[in-house]
Amino acid sequence: MFSLAKDIGIDLGTASVLVYVKGKGVVLNEPSVVAIDKNTGRLLKVGAEAQAMLGRTPGNIVAIRPLREGVISDYDMTERMLKEFLHKVTGGFSLFKPRVIICVPSGITEVEERAVVDAGIQAGARRVYLIEEPVAAAIGAGLDIAKPDGNMVVDIGGGTTDIAVISLSGVVESVSIKVAGDQFNESIVKYMRRKHNVLVGERTAELMKIQIGCVFPKEQETCIDVKGRCLLTGLPKTLSITSTEMLEAFEEPVERILEAIHGVLERTPPELVADISNNGIVMTGGGSLIDGFDKLVESRTGIQTIVAADAISCVAEGTGKSLDSVASMTDGTVNLSRRKQMN
Ligand SMILES: Nc1ncnc2c1ncn2[C@@H]1O[C@H](COP(=O)(O)OP(=O)(O)O)[C@@H](O)[C@H]1O
Ligand SMILES: [Mg+2]
Repeated sequence: MFSLAKDIGIDLGTASVLVYVKGKGVVLNEPSVVAIDKNTGRLLKVGAEAQAMLGRTPGNIVAIRPLREGVISDYDMTERMLKEFLHKVTGGFSLFKPRVIICVPSGITEVEERAVVDAGIQAGARRVYLIEEPVAAAIGAGLDIAKPDGNMVVDIGGGTTDIAVISLSGVVESVSIKVAGDQFNESIVKYMRRKHNVLVGERTAELMKIQIGCVFPKEQETCIDVKGRCLLTGLPKTLSITSTEMLEAFEEPVERILEAIHGVLERTPPELVADISNNGIVMTGGGSLIDGFDKLVESRTGIQTIVAADAISCVAEGTGKSLDSVASMTDGTVNLSRRKQMN
């Protein structure tokens, strides 16, 4: 028997949404941003088009990242965003409704999960399944998680870092902290103000993070010119900033991530810790691309650490691939998620 409707996997991230269609791979990758008209409540744009409006909107339009803080008030927006993206991919479902599996940020509440499931159903899905992000990340990174063998995944996204130990396809121990890519940007803004009396915007901070950001000393120091507003004169100022300065800027968020990894290892049963020390730690998510993260984690834990080859699309691919195991599951909208949250 074959299915006429394509199964769809969605990585609903705090920074971006990726849609995976079975047999096609990742077909959509857009920022998790919506632009709405405040007066009418109308949704104007989603994704990349809405992103371009961030920080540049006139009074009546607001561009928001509904998943950034995972707050319930924005779940209505999340629902609408999800529908728009699904519509883009499918052109609207017709006769054959697909099954949709969605990977949601850890730490979202049951009410929020419900909203996500409803959005999928309203967008025309036949069934909606939810998957835990670390499990999807592990599958996407190519780990064989079905065995009774411990693996550790550290996913550094935009809004949250999720650390989990997985064995027998389930999460044994995990934590989610609200320290990830966004906080690295904020650290840069704070550093620039503190050290150089210069105010830089979030886009500049993001650019600095990607171009010169590092969390472990680089063999060769790099630097870029950065434009901001001098807080003393109020005028534009250009500064040359080095990668070594980024080490100092990132100290706080980096320590919090390392502490969280340490905490998870401490709570993990010894047999699994032994497995992890054999298997190593796998890092996924856009935040793990900051230069030297693998080296830093390895040096602080003594456990071999690698960044997954396709760190950004890993979760989407894992979500998509998990559709195969969904096939063997009983019918009904099943909630696969079970999470623990810190702070
Ligand atoms: N090359 C890079 N270097 C450093 N950070 C990056 C890079 N590419 C993306 N990021 C950061 O990764 C974060 C988004 O990661 P992602 O895994 O897509 O998040 P989420 O799953 O929460 O949507 C953002 O904070 C972004 O700035
Ligand atoms: Mg993610």
